Amino acid sequence: MSQAIAAAAGTASQEWFREVRELAARRDALILAHNYVRPEIQDVADHVGDSLALSRVAATAPNREIVFCGVHFMAETAKILSPDKTVLIPDAAAGCSLADTIHVEELRAWKALHPGAVVVAYVNTSAAVKAESDICCTSSNAADVVRSVPADRTILFLPDRHLGEHVRRVTGRADMEIWQGQCHVHEGIGGDVLRARVEAEPDADVLVHPECACATSALSLVASGAVAKDRVRIVSTGGMVDAARRTGAGRVLVATETGMLHQLRRANPGTVFEAVSDRAVCPYMKMTTPENLLTALREGRDVVEVDSAVAVKARLAVERMIAIGSPSAGGE
Ligand code: 13P
Ligand code: SF4
Repeated sequence: MSQAIAAAAGTASQEWFREVRELAARRDALILAHNYVRPEIQDVADHVGDSLALSRVAATAPNREIVFCGVHFMAETAKILSPDKTVLIPDAAAGCSLADTIHVEELRAWKALHPGAVVVAYVNTSAAVKAESDICCTSSNAADVVRSVPADRTILFLPDRHLGEHVRRVTGRADMEIWQGQCHVHEGIGGDVLRARVEAEPDADVLVHPECACATSALSLVASGAVAKDRVRIVSTGGMVDAARRTGAGRVLVATETGMLHQLRRANPGTVFEAVSDRAVCPYMKMTTPENLLTALREGRDVVEVDSAVAVKARLAVERMIAIGSPSAGGE
């Protein structure tokens, strides 16, 4: 157990913390946690990060088991990358409303309309959709992934429309079709909400996840002079932690799921971090609880399985993604 992990034990019951760590050691299990899960789960994990960082750790971890505290597509991605490892998720019902916006049959029909197009799939998709895609991306490397596609090829970008619009804006890519999916949590953080918060806190920095409905409005606020350009960053959850470490601002407004605040406050205790919307809570990310994490480690469940033929195809798309972009490449 690292010193940082031991120091964090104060945020949860010492007994629970110790049992989780002991069971993980006994099982040779690595505990990964996404930035949105409950604070006590983040504190007990070996690694906390964004989708790309956690995929990278999962791909190279020497452990026999991975316990993924996050949502199902993330655990599935870990299994795709590490087929010989046992991957556990404390609650297999932890889904993702964004991943649910495209089914593999819909993707096949879309591809049929655009023969020869390159399919770029956000990792927030099922294994079956990944298997039908050419390359995956996360919010942290989406722009680099799109830039890696030869300019004369049409891109089918899926499933998030706000991330797609953001990437199109950043890369200037014209020939890019965007699936009109969205995450219900980030869809709720709209331009009006952001504008009101920025007007009330004119000196605050602003961090915006590119899945947010307000991502375009954030840039309009810059264009209108309501907020200075260097105060706004549109980045992945990992990019937010990097920005938090570097900021000199006294206050930072954060447009994403509220679980993010825990890592930001740990990264920079001298700055005040506030959610743009307190209602931006992902119910799926909160499905990992102290109780079911303990059960997962005691009983070895829920086991994540991916059909081997699907996994082989999906792995190609995920491995291409992992090879592109530095961990802090950002979506800007
Ligand atoms: P990140 O890749 O930025 O961690 O985002 C994952 C996610 O599910 C956002 O809702
Ligand atoms: Fe999916 Fe949205 Fe939850 Fe992220 S915040 S896991 S995109 S439902």
